[in-house]
Amino acid sequence: MPAPGFQLACNDCHVWTLSLEQPSDVLARLQQNLSEDEIRRAKRYRFARQRQQFTLVRGALRQLLGCYLDMASESCRFSLSESNKPALAEAKIDLRFNVAHAGGQAIIAIARGIEIGVDIEARQPLDERQALADMILSPAEKERWQALYEEARTLAFYALWTRKEAVTKAIGLGLLMDFNTLEVSFERDLPARLLGLPAQYGRPQDWTLTELDAPSGHTAALAAPVLGLRVLQRIWHPQGVPHDI
Ligand SMILES: CC(C)(COP(=O)(O)OP(=O)(O)OC[C@H]1O[C@@H](n2cnc3c(N)ncnc32)[C@H](O)[C@@H]1OP(=O)(O)O)[C@@H](O)C(=O)NCCC(=O)NCCS
Repeated sequence: MPAPGFQLACNDCHVWTLSLEQPSDVLARLQQNLSEDEIRRAKRYRFARQRQQFTLVRGALRQLLGCYLDMASESCRFSLSESNKPALAEAKIDLRFNVAHAGGQAIIAIARGIEIGVDIEARQPLDERQALADMILSPAEKERWQALYEEARTLAFYALWTRKEAVTKAIGLGLLMDFNTLEVSFERDLPARLLGLPAQYGRPQDWTLTELDAPSGHTAALAAPVLGLRVLQRIWHPQGVPHDI
C-alpha cells in the first residue's frame, strides 16, 4: 500500500519539481538507488555537472516510483522504446512517467496508464529565435506569430516550444517528430491548448495540454492523449514527503 500522498487515481498526474542544486549527501544517497547500467551511464558524461544532474534526476525518479509502487527504489527496472523513451519494464505495472530538465531544474511527471510528456526550458534571449520559429511553426501558426509584438515573442517562443516538445514526448518520438506538424496555442492571454496534430495520434480536443508552474525564468508544459487529466504539482524533497505547490 503506497504511503499517504503517493496514491494516484486513474485520471491524476503528479508533477514533481526538483532543484538540481542538492547537497552532496543527498546526491550520494540517491546514487545508491541507481542500477549498475545507470552508474556506468553517469560516468560517461564528460562534465561533473551533467553527471550529477543525471544521478539526481534518475535517483529522485527511482525514489518517487518506489513510493508510488511501495517497493524498494533500486528494484525498479526500466526499458527503452525504439526512440529511447524510458518506461517501467514490468508489463503489469501501469505507472507511466516522463522527465525533463533545464537550467538547474527538473520535472518528473507520473500518471497511471496514460502516456505523458513534459518539457522545461530555461528562457534566454534568442537571437536565432525567428529562424527557429520558422522551423517549428505550422502554416496556421505563422500568421498568429506575425501578429505578435516583438516583446511578446520570447515568452511565446518558449510556450510554443515546451508545449510541442511535451506533446512529442507523450507520443514518444521527441525531436524525431516534426514540430511543424503540431499546432498549439502560444499567445499570452490564451490557455495552453493543442489545436492540431497528425491524425494517427488522435484528435487534438481529446488531449490535455497544460502549462506548468515553473521556477523563475523557466517555462514548462505537460501533455497527455487524454481529456481532463487532473494535474497536481509538488516540490520534490529529499525525504520524499509531498509538498503541494
Ligand atoms: C526526448 C528528447 C526530446 C529530450 O530532449 P532534451 O530537451 O535534451 O531533454 P529533456 O530534459 O527534455 O528530456 C530528457 C528525458 O526525456 C526522456 N526521453 C528520452 N527519449 C524520449 C522520447 N523519445 N520520448 C519521451 N521522452 C524521452 C528521458 O527520460 C530523458 O531523460 P534521461 O535520459 O535522463 O532518462 C530528445 O532526446 C529526443 O528527441 N530523443 C528521441 C530521439 C533520439 O533518441 N534520438 C537519438 C537516437 S536516434
